[in-house]
Amino acid sequence: MRVGIIGCGAICSVIMSSVCRGDVEVELVALMDTSPEKCEKLLKNCVTQRSTAICKDIDCVLEARPQLVIEAASQRAVRDYVPKLLARGVDVVVLSVGALLDEELYRGVVEATKSSNSKVYIPSGAIAGIDAVKALAPLGIERVELRIYKNVKAFDPNTLKRLGFAEIRERTKVFEGSGVDASRLFPANVNVVATLALASGKIPWVKLYADPTLTKNIHEIEVESPASRIQIRVENEPHPENPKTSYLAPLSAIELLKELTKNTNILVGT
Ligand SMILES: NC(=O)c1ccc[n+]([C@@H]2O[C@H](COP(=O)([O-])OP(=O)(O)OC[C@H]3O[C@@H](n4cnc5c(N)ncnc54)[C@H](O)[C@@H]3O)[C@@H](O)[C@H]2O)c1
Repeated sequence: MRVGIIGCGAICSVIMSSVCRGDVEVELVALMDTSPEKCEKLLKNCVTQRSTAICKDIDCVLEARPQLVIEAASQRAVRDYVPKLLARGVDVVVLSVGALLDEELYRGVVEATKSSNSKVYIPSGAIAGIDAVKALAPLGIERVELRIYKNVKAFDPNTLKRLGFAEIRERTKVFEGSGVDASRLFPANVNVVATLALASGKIPWVKLYADPTLTKNIHEIEVESPASRIQIRVENEPHPENPKTSYLAPLSAIELLKELTKNTNILVGT
Protein backbone atom coordinates (compact mmCIF):
# COMPACT_ATOMS: atom_id res chain seq x y z
CA MET A 1 0.00 0.00 0.00
CA ARG A 2 1.29 3.49 -0.89
CA VAL A 3 1.23 5.58 2.29
CA GLY A 4 1.92 9.22 3.19
CA ILE A 5 2.30 10.75 6.65
CA ILE A 6 1.51 14.36 7.60
CA GLY A 7 3.35 15.48 10.75
CA CYS A 8 6.88 14.24 11.46
CA GLY A 9 6.72 14.47 15.26
CA ALA A 10 6.45 11.99 18.12
CA ILE A 11 3.70 9.79 16.65
CA CYS A 12 5.31 9.68 13.21
CA SER A 13 8.70 8.72 14.69
CA VAL A 14 7.22 5.57 16.29
CA ILE A 15 5.31 4.66 13.10
CA MET A 16 8.45 5.26 11.03
CA SER A 17 10.53 2.94 13.24
CA SER A 18 8.06 0.18 12.58
CA VAL A 19 7.83 0.89 8.83
CA CYS A 20 11.61 1.15 8.46
CA ARG A 21 12.14 -2.16 10.29
CA GLY A 22 9.75 -3.71 7.78
CA ASP A 23 7.16 -4.68 10.46
CA VAL A 24 4.47 -3.01 8.36
CA GLU A 25 4.46 -3.66 4.66
CA VAL A 26 3.89 -0.22 3.19
CA GLU A 27 5.62 1.92 0.64
CA LEU A 28 6.15 5.29 2.25
CA VAL A 29 5.64 7.64 -0.69
CA ALA A 30 5.46 11.03 1.08
CA LEU A 31 6.24 12.72 4.39
CA MET A 32 5.01 16.24 5.07
CA ASP A 33 5.66 18.75 7.85
CA THR A 34 5.71 22.52 8.23
CA SER A 35 9.34 21.85 9.30
CA PRO A 36 10.44 19.42 6.55
CA GLU A 37 13.85 18.97 8.21
CA LYS A 38 12.05 16.87 10.85
CA CYS A 39 10.97 14.46 8.08
CA GLU A 40 14.50 14.42 6.62
CA LYS A 41 15.87 13.47 10.05
CA LEU A 42 13.41 10.59 10.40
CA LEU A 43 14.10 9.36 6.88
CA LYS A 44 17.90 9.51 7.16
CA ASN A 45 18.31 6.16 8.88
CA CYS A 46 15.45 4.42 7.11
CA VAL A 47 17.14 1.91 4.83
CA THR A 48 13.93 0.25 3.61
CA GLN A 49 12.38 3.44 2.15
CA ARG A 50 14.44 5.04 -0.60
CA SER A 51 11.96 7.03 -2.69
CA THR A 52 9.93 9.01 -0.17
CA ALA A 53 9.06 12.57 -1.20
CA ILE A 54 9.55 15.18 1.50
CA CYS A 55 6.74 17.69 1.17
CA LYS A 56 5.91 21.16 2.40
CA ASP A 57 2.40 21.22 0.99
CA ILE A 58 -0.52 18.92 0.33
CA ASP A 59 -0.24 19.07 -3.48
CA CYS A 60 3.21 17.49 -3.21
CA VAL A 61 1.69 14.68 -1.07
CA LEU A 62 -1.05 14.15 -3.67
CA GLU A 63 1.51 14.04 -6.49
CA ALA A 64 3.11 11.04 -4.74
CA ARG A 65 -0.21 9.18 -5.33
CA PRO A 66 -0.77 7.75 -1.83
CA GLN A 67 -3.65 5.34 -1.26
CA LEU A 68 -3.70 6.20 2.42
CA VAL A 69 -2.43 9.23 4.38
CA ILE A 70 -1.84 9.24 8.13
CA GLU A 71 -2.58 12.62 9.71
CA ALA A 72 -0.35 12.92 12.82
CA ALA A 73 0.05 16.69 12.91
CA SER A 74 -2.64 18.92 14.43
CA GLN A 75 -6.33 19.81 14.38
CA ARG A 76 -5.48 22.54 11.90
CA ALA A 77 -3.99 19.93 9.58
CA VAL A 78 -7.24 17.92 9.77
CA ARG A 79 -9.21 21.02 8.75
CA ASP A 80 -6.80 22.06 5.99
CA TYR A 81 -5.95 18.73 4.36
CA VAL A 82 -8.29 15.87 5.30
CA PRO A 83 -11.39 16.89 3.28
CA LYS A 84 -9.14 17.59 0.26
CA LEU A 85 -7.45 14.18 0.48
CA LEU A 86 -10.76 12.38 0.90
CA ALA A 87 -12.33 14.24 -2.02
CA ARG A 88 -9.43 13.01 -4.18
CA GLY A 89 -10.21 9.41 -3.18
CA VAL A 90 -7.36 9.04 -0.65
CA ASP A 91 -8.20 7.20 2.60
CA VAL A 92 -7.07 8.97 5.78
CA VAL A 93 -6.10 7.83 9.29
CA VAL A 94 -6.90 10.71 11.66
CA LEU A 95 -4.94 11.02 14.91
CA SER A 96 -5.91 14.62 15.77
CA VAL A 97 -9.44 13.32 16.14
CA GLY A 98 -10.47 16.19 18.43
CA ALA A 99 -10.93 18.27 15.27
CA LEU A 100 -13.94 16.11 14.40
CA LEU A 101 -15.86 17.44 17.43
CA ASP A 102 -16.45 20.46 15.18
CA GLU A 103 -19.82 19.53 13.65
CA GLU A 104 -19.30 21.52 10.46
CA LEU A 105 -15.93 19.92 9.78
CA TYR A 106 -17.33 16.49 10.62
CA ARG A 107 -20.17 16.99 8.11
CA GLY A 108 -17.64 18.11 5.47
CA VAL A 109 -15.54 15.01 6.09
CA VAL A 110 -18.58 12.72 5.79
CA GLU A 111 -19.60 14.43 2.54
CA ALA A 112 -16.08 14.10 1.11
CA THR A 113 -15.99 10.35 1.87
CA LYS A 114 -19.36 9.87 0.17
CA SER A 115 -18.47 11.83 -2.94
CA SER A 116 -15.33 9.79 -3.64
CA ASN A 117 -15.94 6.52 -1.77
CA SER A 118 -12.93 7.17 0.47
CA LYS A 119 -12.61 6.17 4.12
CA VAL A 120 -11.59 7.73 7.41
CA TYR A 121 -9.96 5.48 10.01
CA ILE A 122 -9.77 6.56 13.65
CA PRO A 123 -7.46 4.36 15.71
CA SER A 124 -8.34 3.79 19.38
CA GLY A 125 -5.28 5.93 20.18
CA ALA A 126 -4.37 6.41 23.83
CA ILE A 127 -7.35 4.48 25.22
CA ALA A 128 -8.72 0.93 25.27
CA GLY A 129 -12.16 -0.62 24.93
CA ILE A 130 -13.32 1.25 21.83
CA ASP A 131 -14.27 -2.09 20.22
CA ALA A 132 -16.76 -2.84 23.03
CA VAL A 133 -18.10 0.73 23.17
CA LYS A 134 -18.77 0.58 19.41
CA ALA A 135 -20.58 -2.74 19.78
CA LEU A 136 -22.78 -1.35 22.56
CA ALA A 137 -23.63 1.95 20.85
CA PRO A 138 -26.55 0.69 18.70
CA LEU A 139 -28.37 -0.46 21.88
CA GLY A 140 -28.07 3.02 23.32
CA ILE A 141 -25.44 3.93 25.90
CA GLU A 142 -26.77 5.46 29.11
CA ARG A 143 -23.57 6.91 30.57
CA VAL A 144 -19.97 7.46 29.49
CA GLU A 145 -17.56 8.82 32.09
CA LEU A 146 -13.91 9.56 31.46
CA ARG A 147 -11.51 10.26 34.34
CA ILE A 148 -8.07 11.51 33.38
CA TYR A 149 -5.14 11.69 35.82
CA LYS A 150 -1.97 13.46 34.69
CA ASN A 151 1.03 15.15 36.21
CA VAL A 152 0.29 18.77 37.00
CA LYS A 153 2.94 19.72 34.40
CA ALA A 154 0.68 18.29 31.65
CA PHE A 155 -1.81 21.12 32.30
CA ASP A 156 -1.54 24.71 31.07
CA PRO A 157 -0.59 26.70 34.22
CA ASN A 158 -2.59 29.76 33.09
CA THR A 159 -5.77 27.69 32.73
CA LEU A 160 -5.23 26.14 36.17
CA LYS A 161 -4.67 29.60 37.64
CA ARG A 162 -7.81 30.95 35.98
CA LEU A 163 -9.82 28.09 37.50
CA GLY A 164 -8.43 28.85 40.98
CA PHE A 165 -5.70 26.17 41.14
CA ALA A 166 -2.57 28.30 41.40
CA GLU A 167 -0.61 25.75 43.47
CA ILE A 168 -1.30 22.04 43.46
CA ARG A 169 0.55 19.95 46.07
CA GLU A 170 -1.57 16.79 46.01
CA ARG A 171 -3.98 14.99 43.66
CA THR A 172 -6.67 17.60 42.86
CA LYS A 173 -9.80 17.49 40.70
CA VAL A 174 -9.36 20.52 38.44
CA PHE A 175 -12.39 20.00 36.20
CA GLU A 176 -15.70 18.16 36.09
CA GLY A 177 -18.19 18.65 33.27
CA SER A 178 -19.14 17.90 29.69
CA GLY A 179 -16.50 16.60 27.27
CA VAL A 180 -17.09 19.64 25.06
CA ASP A 181 -16.15 22.05 27.87
CA ALA A 182 -13.24 19.80 28.90
CA SER A 183 -11.88 19.91 25.35
CA ARG A 184 -12.26 23.69 25.18
CA LEU A 185 -10.52 24.33 28.52
CA PHE A 186 -7.95 21.52 28.26
CA PRO A 187 -7.33 20.86 24.54
CA ALA A 188 -4.55 18.35 25.31
CA ASN A 189 -7.28 15.85 26.27
CA VAL A 190 -9.56 16.48 23.33
CA ASN A 191 -8.55 13.43 21.24
CA VAL A 192 -9.56 10.88 23.86
CA VAL A 193 -12.86 12.70 24.46
CA ALA A 194 -13.59 12.80 20.72
CA THR A 195 -12.71 9.14 20.10
CA LEU A 196 -15.04 8.06 22.91
CA ALA A 197 -17.78 10.41 21.69
CA LEU A 198 -17.57 9.11 18.10
CA ALA A 199 -17.57 5.47 19.23
CA SER A 200 -20.41 5.81 21.76
CA GLY A 201 -22.58 8.47 20.15
CA LYS A 202 -22.52 10.29 23.49
CA ILE A 203 -20.37 13.18 24.72
CA PRO A 204 -18.52 11.78 27.76
CA TRP A 205 -18.79 13.30 31.23
CA VAL A 206 -15.20 14.23 32.12
CA LYS A 207 -13.29 14.53 35.41
CA LEU A 208 -9.71 15.80 35.25
CA TYR A 209 -7.18 15.33 38.04
CA ALA A 210 -3.77 17.01 38.34
CA ASP A 211 -1.28 15.09 40.45
CA PRO A 212 2.28 16.35 41.11
CA THR A 213 3.59 12.82 41.80
CA LEU A 214 2.27 11.01 38.70
CA THR A 215 4.65 9.83 35.97
CA LYS A 216 2.00 8.17 33.77
CA ASN A 217 -1.06 9.41 31.87
CA ILE A 218 -4.01 7.49 33.35
CA HIS A 219 -7.41 7.15 31.68
CA GLU A 220 -10.37 5.51 33.46
CA ILE A 221 -13.47 4.89 31.39
CA GLU A 222 -16.89 3.80 32.63
CA VAL A 223 -19.66 2.91 30.22
CA GLU A 224 -23.17 1.81 31.14
CA SER A 225 -25.53 0.26 28.64
CA PRO A 226 -28.39 -2.25 28.73
CA ALA A 227 -25.99 -5.04 27.66
CA SER A 228 -22.84 -4.31 29.67
CA ARG A 229 -21.24 -2.19 32.33
CA ILE A 230 -17.62 -1.55 31.44
CA GLN A 231 -14.79 -0.18 33.58
CA ILE A 232 -11.40 0.32 31.96
CA ARG A 233 -8.18 1.73 33.38
CA VAL A 234 -5.25 2.46 31.09
CA GLU A 235 -1.90 3.59 32.55
CA ASN A 236 0.10 5.04 29.68
CA GLU A 237 3.80 5.78 29.44
CA PRO A 238 4.28 9.22 27.88
CA HIS A 239 6.31 9.43 24.66
CA PRO A 240 9.86 10.48 25.68
CA GLU A 241 10.00 13.29 23.08
CA ASN A 242 6.45 14.57 23.60
CA PRO A 243 5.09 13.83 27.10
CA LYS A 244 1.62 15.01 26.02
CA THR A 245 1.41 11.98 23.73
CA SER A 246 1.01 8.47 25.14
CA TYR A 247 3.22 5.77 23.61
CA LEU A 248 0.10 3.64 23.07
CA ALA A 249 -1.31 6.16 20.53
CA PRO A 250 1.22 5.48 17.72
CA LEU A 251 1.21 1.76 18.59
CA SER A 252 -2.53 1.65 17.93
CA ALA A 253 -2.00 3.40 14.57
CA ILE A 254 0.67 0.81 13.65
CA GLU A 255 -1.75 -2.01 14.50
CA LEU A 256 -4.38 -0.39 12.29
CA LEU A 257 -1.86 -0.17 9.43
CA LYS A 258 -1.07 -3.87 9.86
CA GLU A 259 -4.80 -4.70 9.71
CA LEU A 260 -5.15 -2.69 6.52
CA THR A 261 -2.15 -4.20 4.79
CA LYS A 262 -1.87 -7.80 5.89
CA ASN A 263 -3.40 -10.59 3.94
CA THR A 264 -5.19 -12.57 6.61
CA ASN A 265 -8.56 -14.26 6.93
CA ILE A 266 -8.63 -14.04 10.72
CA LEU A 267 -9.34 -10.62 12.25
CA VAL A 268 -9.35 -10.26 16.04
CA GLY A 269 -11.33 -7.47 17.69
CA THR A 270 -13.50 -4.93 15.94
N1 LIG B 1 -5.82 9.97 18.98
C1 LIG B 1 -5.08 9.97 20.07
O1 LIG B 1 -5.32 9.23 21.03
C2 LIG B 1 -3.88 10.88 20.13
C3 LIG B 1 -2.90 10.67 21.10
C4 LIG B 1 -1.80 11.51 21.11
C5 LIG B 1 -1.70 12.57 20.21
N2 LIG B 1 -2.69 12.77 19.30
C6 LIG B 1 -2.63 13.89 18.34
O2 LIG B 1 -1.83 13.53 17.24
C7 LIG B 1 -1.19 14.70 16.70
C8 LIG B 1 0.32 14.45 16.60
O3 LIG B 1 0.85 14.15 17.87
P1 LIG B 1 2.43 14.15 18.12
O4 LIG B 1 2.63 13.75 19.54
O5 LIG B 1 3.14 13.41 17.05
O6 LIG B 1 2.73 15.73 17.99
P2 LIG B 1 4.14 16.43 17.74
O7 LIG B 1 3.95 17.84 18.19
O8 LIG B 1 5.25 15.64 18.33
O9 LIG B 1 4.31 16.38 16.14
C9 LIG B 1 3.41 17.04 15.27
C10 LIG B 1 4.18 17.41 14.00
O10 LIG B 1 3.23 17.89 13.05
C11 LIG B 1 3.73 19.08 12.45
N3 LIG B 1 2.57 19.90 12.08
C12 LIG B 1 1.69 20.52 12.88
N4 LIG B 1 0.73 21.13 12.17
C13 LIG B 1 1.02 20.91 10.87
C14 LIG B 1 0.41 21.28 9.64
N5 LIG B 1 -0.70 22.05 9.62
N6 LIG B 1 0.97 20.87 8.50
C15 LIG B 1 2.09 20.10 8.50
N7 LIG B 1 2.73 19.72 9.63
C16 LIG B 1 2.20 20.12 10.80
C17 LIG B 1 4.61 19.74 13.52
O11 LIG B 1 5.60 20.56 12.94
C18 LIG B 1 5.22 18.51 14.20
O12 LIG B 1 6.43 18.12 13.62
C19 LIG B 1 -1.55 15.85 17.65
O13 LIG B 1 -2.61 16.60 17.12
C20 LIG B 1 -1.99 15.14 18.91
O14 LIG B 1 -2.93 15.90 19.67
C21 LIG B 1 -3.76 11.93 19.23
